[in-house]
Amino acid sequence: MSAKLTIHKDKFIENVHHVKKDYPVMAVVKNNAYNTGLSFAINAFLKADITHFATTSLEEAIEIRKLSTNAVIFLMNPSTEFDLLRAFQIQMTLPSYAFYEKYQHELHDIKVHLEYENLLSRSGFKNKDEFHQFITKYEQDYKTNKMKVVGAWTHFGYADEFGVPEYEIERHEWLEILAFLKTHFTFEMIHAQNSASFVREEGLLEGHTHLRLGIILYGARPYEGLPESLTQQTIEVTSHVLQIRTLNPNQSAGYSFAYTSSTHERLAVVAIGYGDGVLRTRAQYDCMINGKRYPIKALMMSHMFVLVDDAVKANDIVTLYSNEIRIDEFTFKGVGANSEQLSALNQYSLIREVIE
Ligand SMILES: Cc1ncc(COP(=O)(O)O)c(C=O)c1O
Repeated sequence: MSAKLTIHKDKFIENVHHVKKDYPVMAVVKNNAYNTGLSFAINAFLKADITHFATTSLEEAIEIRKLSTNAVIFLMNPSTEFDLLRAFQIQMTLPSYAFYEKYQHELHDIKVHLEYENLLSRSGFKNKDEFHQFITKYEQDYKTNKMKVVGAWTHFGYADEFGVPEYEIERHEWLEILAFLKTHFTFEMIHAQNSASFVREEGLLEGHTHLRLGIILYGARPYEGLPESLTQQTIEVTSHVLQIRTLNPNQSAGYSFAYTSSTHERLAVVAIGYGDGVLRTRAQYDCMINGKRYPIKALMMSHMFVLVDDAVKANDIVTLYSNEIRIDEFTFKGVGANSEQLSALNQYSLIREVIE
């Protein structure tokens, strides 16, 4: 036995259905599908009637094509591997006028989505002037230009922020830019909303063709104050008690006084640590053993100490995360940002089990 990531496949698919309802969704599957496993996630999403996928990695995009000949695959980072993009029919972001100018000829037969930078300042056209510059050149090159503009998109980086005006600002800016772009192009796809924006807007923004969802599909609420019923966590992270150590008062355990007892105590040594991707700040809170919560006292690379009572014994299962002790509960307490804990999980050290 060792540290384990378990996914309940049927429940995962059921939850995706529950979350997406009848909305058209492009599933964000970057970082190994938020570490649920790319091929697992693609197959599960296909079963839940999602056929559009977005990732930031060309390697993942190619992997998706190998799993599905019909899927629409959108690469959110620009790539200059134009032959591969064409061979695997991968659509891609167009991140700037400069990119178009430089690679205009190599981009032939590639479908692109115009990206608006918005407040995120990560990638994309900066403003209407830059789009104007592009449109003028694109229209001039009409006869020789074989790149296909099929989509428009942006990312709302402030959708989970309340009490500040940034989300309203980025939403407003985008809708203005989109109205302008629509006077020049007929888009097959328009997508802007992540999980937080989807929940906040109670659906799809007018004139958009797809939601572009990540975290909510994987079972975590995108911001605090939402009911747990919004999405179910069907992923579990567990390990087991290796042994119980008894400590005298004022006795230290672990590297560099990792934990010092205050009285006679029982410490469970558990086979999971930050090397498995458990965030360091998670150690300030509880885990669950035999249905009861116990405080974690120290987190090391491959072990953690848990302060337990007489009911806990060697080989007992220790649950770090499940639908009873959800990842989002700890996100809201400050253990990492939104998708940080999921994407930090170590896919090489955790034993992966999919329960059908
Ligand atoms: C560009 C882009 N779109 C959509 C998403 C999905 O966001 P979320 O997981 O909050 O739904 C992400 C995630 O980071 C992203 O980077």
